[in-house]
Amino acid sequence: MSEDYIRIENLTYQYADTDVPALQEVNLEISKGEYVAIVGPCGAGKTTLCLTLNGIVPKMFMGEMVGRVTVGGMNTVEHEVREIALLVGMVFDNPEFQLSQMSVEEEIALGLESRGIPREEIRRRISEVLDIVGLAGYEERSPMALSGGQQQRLAIAAALAIHPDILVLDEPTSNLDPIGKQEVFEVCARLNRESGTTIIIAEHEVEVMALYADKIFVLNEGRIVLGGTPREVFSEVDALQSIGLRVPQVTALAHILQMTAGKWDGEYPITVDEAVETIQNRWKESAHA
Ligand SMILES: Nc1ncnc2c1ncn2[C@@H]1O[C@H](COP(=O)(O)OP(=O)(O)OP(=O)(O)O)[C@@H](O)[C@H]1O
Ligand SMILES: [Mg+2]
Repeated sequence: MSEDYIRIENLTYQYADTDVPALQEVNLEISKGEYVAIVGPCGAGKTTLCLTLNGIVPKMFMGEMVGRVTVGGMNTVEHEVREIALLVGMVFDNPEFQLSQMSVEEEIALGLESRGIPREEIRRRISEVLDIVGLAGYEERSPMALSGGQQQRLAIAAALAIHPDILVLDEPTSNLDPIGKQEVFEVCARLNRESGTTIIIAEHEVEVMALYADKIFVLNEGRIVLGGTPREVFSEVDALQSIGLRVPQVTALAHILQMTAGKWDGEYPITVDEAVETIQNRWKESAHA
């Protein structure tokens, strides 16, 4: 099962009344427990790809889909979105959009009540997920009175309360300040590490993805143009920059040093720690030379 936990095969999707498909011949596989980042410029198809994972695309849009998406063995067009949602939790970029209740606990209870989960169990899950996202003690607060980072963590808590094995986050930190962003990344990393939750995150923060992601897929104009480990993907500096994507700053620095003066020589670092280690080793070597 883990081999083809999430499998997208030859997926092409075109929204109604548009001239070009939003996704074109996409193929990808994600194993259980992986932390996967989807990056790509505006309009590349990141949101559409996220929405195919619980069947919202194609079911809730007019449009045409060719190909197949299976999640945990379920073909997404053969199952109800509600059923797939038990396996796949979704968090969108703007938490305000997702939050509708008067209190934090009601917000989390909402999805559970509609699924007929008993009151006692709902109470247990509220306390469980608020602990996970670091919002214990906020039960009675109004979601609208929370900071952006707290609201986004509440949206994650509401998604987690269903106990999904897979959490899909579509640019969950785009409206957040650096602290809020950090909070969201920390929660995702902890869920992945401690509960084995499969994380799929559309995200612009390449430095953070270099630290956390097992795999990165790069989308451009609806196609997957690169895929692999962060090291494999970020080593393609020119290809990424040509479609308007950033690489981590340390990677860009090593690339410039190599291109302008032949001064890097070897694999580019993707994190500051790696760059520091490489530079220190070279200093040691040159001191001994
Ligand atoms: N509901 C829709 N109806 C018609 N076309 C759509 C719809 N949603 C998205 N599109 C088009 O599909 C393509 C992919 O859009 P999508 O929102 O998936 O990209 P994205 O990578 O998430 O972009 P962004 O970085 O702006 O979030 C774009 O050309 C977009 O205009
Ligand atoms: Mg989007």
